Amino acid sequence: MIDVIDNKYFYLHNGAVAYLFGLLPNQQLGHLYYGEDLGELSADDLAYLTLHKNKASGTVKYSKKIKNFTLADHMQEYPTYGTSDFRESAISLEANDTYLYPDFKYDHFKITTGKSRKITVPASYGNDSENLTIYLKDTERQLELELSYSIFEESTAIVCKAKIVNYSQFEVEIKNLQSSVLDLPTANYNFLQLSGAWTKERHIITRPLTQGITKIESLRGASSHQENPFIALVDKNVTNDTGNIYASNLIYSGNFISQVEVDEWGQSRLMTGINPATFKWKLAPNQDFSTPEAVLFYTNDGFNGLMAQTHDFVTKHIIDQKWQKRDRPIVINNWEATYFDFNEEKLLKLATQAKQLGIECFVLDDGWFGKRDSDNSSLGNWTVDRKKFPQGLDHFSAQVHKLGMKFGLWFEPEMVSADTELYQEHPDWVVRHPYKRYSVGRRQYVLDFANPAVVDNIYQHMAKIIENAQVDYIKWDMNRNITEAYSPYLHSINHPQGEFFHRYIQGVYHLYAKLLTSFPDLLIEGCASGGGRFDLGILYYSPQIWPSDDSDAAERLDIMSGTLLAYPLSTFSNHVSAVPNDQVKRITSLKFRQNVACFGPLGYELDLGKLSTEEKNQIKNWIRWYKENRKLLVNGTFDQLLKFDPSQNTYAWSVSNSNKQIVGFYRKLARPNETLDQYLPLKHLNDHQKYQINSDQMVSGRVLQKFGLREPYQFNASNPDTAQISGDFQSYLYQIKTIDRKI
Ligand code: GLA
Repeated sequence: MIDVIDNKYFYLHNGAVAYLFGLLPNQQLGHLYYGEDLGELSADDLAYLTLHKNKASGTVKYSKKIKNFTLADHMQEYPTYGTSDFRESAISLEANDTYLYPDFKYDHFKITTGKSRKITVPASYGNDSENLTIYLKDTERQLELELSYSIFEESTAIVCKAKIVNYSQFEVEIKNLQSSVLDLPTANYNFLQLSGAWTKERHIITRPLTQGITKIESLRGASSHQENPFIALVDKNVTNDTGNIYASNLIYSGNFISQVEVDEWGQSRLMTGINPATFKWKLAPNQDFSTPEAVLFYTNDGFNGLMAQTHDFVTKHIIDQKWQKRDRPIVINNWEATYFDFNEEKLLKLATQAKQLGIECFVLDDGWFGKRDSDNSSLGNWTVDRKKFPQGLDHFSAQVHKLGMKFGLWFEPEMVSADTELYQEHPDWVVRHPYKRYSVGRRQYVLDFANPAVVDNIYQHMAKIIENAQVDYIKWDMNRNITEAYSPYLHSINHPQGEFFHRYIQGVYHLYAKLLTSFPDLLIEGCASGGGRFDLGILYYSPQIWPSDDSDAAERLDIMSGTLLAYPLSTFSNHVSAVPNDQVKRITSLKFRQNVACFGPLGYELDLGKLSTEEKNQIKNWIRWYKENRKLLVNGTFDQLLKFDPSQNTYAWSVSNSNKQIVGFYRKLARPNETLDQYLPLKHLNDHQKYQINSDQMVSGRVLQKFGLREPYQFNASNPDTAQISGDFQSYLYQIKTIDRKI
């Protein structure tokens, strides 16, 4: 999969994709190609791919010795600023307050196979990888730059990262070190981002690229509700199944940038990495620093092709394989059922009702500890509230286990409230600037997770509870962003405060790693006021994340459609909640809510005691059906059958495996005589197989794939005589099964 040609060209390819770069005349690395596999390359092919036009005449030459060479003319692998390229660079270093203009020249390379899963740092893994590391040296400064690339079987993903080693006698300050750079020859793309806000995360937004920088970023200490590190460059004529897309994502949960710069000749430079605006790292002699990994994706098959790539990659190379094999439990979470108003008796009733409906795990949300009757107290006081649980948490958990259910517990490990001993005894454990003024968020403070003693202390508290109460599942929440960032700990060890945000997130990963080492079977669900930290870093440890505090099914259609561009169904949990919905006050039917929530790990978050017998029966039957189809709904192949449109009213989703496909139709608002423009050709069926649609029609795979699935005839809002489904917020599920007949 990795060919090194003439010690000059580096060619990663696997049939699905090719990534090619080579040495430039100045011995830096020049990018040549990323796209469909080019097969075997001859010397003529390589010479042709290397040709370039000298466009930047009149601008600065790289050096007097190398004739007619300016870096601005070239696509590069890891551009540095300060010689002849004035675009944004991937690296920026200083020593003694003086800017360095590093000149990293190729030295040697190393190829290895396989990447093991290491719990300490989130990163891609897999036995099927081939890995190339290029070592570049700046001999004058005695610095080494290592650029690493991994390619996996059958995947178009290329994983990149950079590492810098200081072999000099002097301290160097890293001000910027990006994880990946992808130079592309054109700018004929739309920039796609997943953006939003609390309760409306990861909505798809696109805008055309133009000269200059198009950027998304986070400065909040978490990847954020507002922007997700995933971005894509999509062909202007992209459809669900055709068109080029380049995308990138970052295996990181802290402050990031993902940006594209279009230069004066219409070339694009896509870069992603730690946000340099809040970053500064002290690199002492003989120390090194590695960036988080970035992942590049390519497809020529439109949005569904992109999802095939991103989903496959996250499933095989990010999430712990253990959770792909085990069924994700159907949960009942008491948050929207009770908020802070509960006691043992009330919860046990809820758990008992849930068990009767087939629910498998009881998750005790916020409010079980300290004196937490509202959100202004007790974070950091991780001792059970005896008023609510007179016989202790262990007793309550035992009761839940006795019902035959798993027991889940909410924590917000990174936070502290002012009324706790933790806060009073350790004022220097809190993120706080020496300035007097500091901001409060949700009436709580952030613990200094850059300080290993803080992480260890929280670990001790959590481990004791997990052990004693036999906790099976944790919901790990994080409900405020970081303001006035300042680590008393970094000050005490004389490190720059610019290290804070990165060390903070390393502290978060460290706590995850410690917990999962002690309790390898613990299922940790990530959460940050819903989807405020939904990224590949968290997914490395948490196989699923609560994607949004908005549990309204109609809102979730957009949240899930956006999320699915980058992350598979198994990564987010969907809860059926009460109506009117608590966030938007919308009323939708139980059927609609369940039809949306079944795409992915399912849960319930409402007071089951308030439901009618008919509704309870509906849920019971639904859960029985969900369990039969859970593997398909959580791990199947997902496709969008209708094209994304910012004012989308109708959605058609499908999920398939080798013998079954489920297609969900959803319509938000009823419109008179609305029809779809087309029948919906299905995918992943066998042309020569017969399929049964629900329990009636039998159709060949060929017809379903070429002619397509007819839209549900029941959707007809304007003719009350024929309409079987009418009104707002309606849905319909098709189940398409193979029947034992070849044709
Ligand atoms: C956050 C979470 C919610 C819930 C509350 C509890 O907002 O996203 O699901 O756990 O905190 O305070």
